[in-house]
Amino acid sequence: MRASTSPLGVLSALVVLLSTSVLAQTITRYCSPESATVCFAEATWPGGTRPIFRIAIPDNVQSAPFETILQIVAPISLTWVGFAWGGGMVNNPITMAWMNGNTAVVSSRWATARTVPGMYNQATVKALMSSRNATHWTAEILCTGCSRWTGGEVSPVNNNQFAWGSGRAAVAQPSNPQSSFPKHTDVRMYGAMLQNGRVPSAAFNSYKARVPVPMI
Ligand code: HEM
Ligand SMILES: *[C@@H]1O[C@H](CO)[C@@H](O)[C@H](O)[C@H]1NC(C)=O
Repeated sequence: MRASTSPLGVLSALVVLLSTSVLAQTITRYCSPESATVCFAEATWPGGTRPIFRIAIPDNVQSAPFETILQIVAPISLTWVGFAWGGGMVNNPITMAWMNGNTAVVSSRWATARTVPGMYNQATVKALMSSRNATHWTAEILCTGCSRWTGGEVSPVNNNQFAWGSGRAAVAQPSNPQSSFPKHTDVRMYGAMLQNGRVPSAAFNSYKARVPVPMI
């Protein structure tokens, strides 16, 4: 007779336990070295192998729509990182970033199925800053249109569901924002409030218009 608890069953239970507890994200407050009043809600995962996500929004709004600033700090081994504003792969705005040399190439995407997300013109993204060193690349992205979409919105005051994916194989045409790219090797879904990233709106506006210095 088969044992009721198979080694495989124990293993997958362990994996679920690990991915929900030990590998849970931490949400903290990260303030820009460029401006003490510009802080972000930062999500990190233990181990240092996953991207860091930082979100800043203006503090003069109680509901969407509002502009968002997203910082992605990725280990150099990641060839692309995508951030999903509604917490899953499909039916929400996805902000994509990868490096082309020392410059971030960003795009606004939307997936209706679990295949390469197409372009999404109802949100516009702009790279405010990008940098790289021996271990990491960083992209900072302003988005207009990522906080509200058909079927959902981001809350500036309540909990949100976000998600991300990252890949390790080469993007087809790194210089082209509309390029296809290979499937992720890592994904996460997580909940977060944005309180830590509410920036006085005047500071938000001057920050997004600044001439940035690389954050290396
Ligand atoms: C070439 C592009 C992509 C392909 C082919 C793809 C394919 C898939 C597939 C087949 C799944 C189901 C589970 C699995 O097989 O791992 C999945 C899940 C997922 N993908 Fe993607 N994906 C792509 C891009 C992206 C991007 C850019 C993101 C960025 C946010 C993303 C986020 C997720 C997440 C969060 C899940 C798990 C939750 C869910 O299913 O909604 N994917 N993807
Ligand atoms: C490289 O960049 C990352 C991300 O900004 C930073 O955490 C790290 O300290 C930098 N490493 C060096 C050697 O400057």
